[in-house]
Amino acid sequence: MNRKYRKTVIAGNWKMNKTPSETKEFMTQFKTIMPKGRWCDVALCVPAVCIPAAVRAMRETRVGIGAENVNANPSGAYTGEIAANMLVDAGCKYVIIGHSERRAMGETDADVNAKVLAALEAGLTPIMCCGESLEQREAGITEEWITMQIKLGLQGVSEEKIRKVIIAYEPIWAIGTGRTATPEQAQEVCENIRAVVRKLYSSKNARAISILYGGSMNEKNAYELLAQPDIDGGLIGGASLVPEKFVKIIEAANQPTV
Ligand code: 13P
Repeated sequence: MNRKYRKTVIAGNWKMNKTPSETKEFMTQFKTIMPKGRWCDVALCVPAVCIPAAVRAMRETRVGIGAENVNANPSGAYTGEIAANMLVDAGCKYVIIGHSERRAMGETDADVNAKVLAALEAGLTPIMCCGESLEQREAGITEEWITMQIKLGLQGVSEEKIRKVIIAYEPIWAIGTGRTATPEQAQEVCENIRAVVRKLYSSKNARAISILYGGSMNEKNAYELLAQPDIDGGLIGGASLVPEKFVKIIEAANQPTV
């Protein structure tokens, strides 16, 4: 982390977990134990049907609610889909884009790019995900792969808007497996992502953007991961479903930075 130049962001990704009633229950508990300090931004990205309950519960707090997906089109005949302006109107501040679980369902880099542009246009903060498979890591092509995902995902994002984008590095082999990347492995990739942003934009922009790590981050390993200079927060799956665990990760972000 580096609080001097950029925001620390602790974001939960609930995936397909919790009903609206369970959302209300979680938020009630979470609010009572949420740290008062403002050392990081806190976001919770929840299933679309849980957004109203989450927004209502968190209205008077500093927790931003987000969605887990968005359609790139502004409106029209896309049965079952949700447009960016609908998320904004529902009270969302964030949207996760290009999670590997969605890429596995067929989402391409071009789709990710269109969604990032649509989210920015509507005023949402996109959390754009990238990450390599175990095969790619073992083949030694992690850096090339991530560089390509970032370049394609950010195509057409202007100099003015790039600072609104949050990038999340999530190695696929670490998601939901309990096998976390080591702080050094995660730092290496996040540092490379910042270098790519530097080349595409500028040093100032690269220094200002928040890069998160995701993949089995929990209350035990968060401190060490967040201590890395280029890891500006976390995108947390399983551990964000339990208020006590999520709070401990927020607390881990309260540490000295460079
Ligand atoms: P886990 O924290 O459950 O490994 O999930 C990570 C993730 O995919 C967050 O987007």
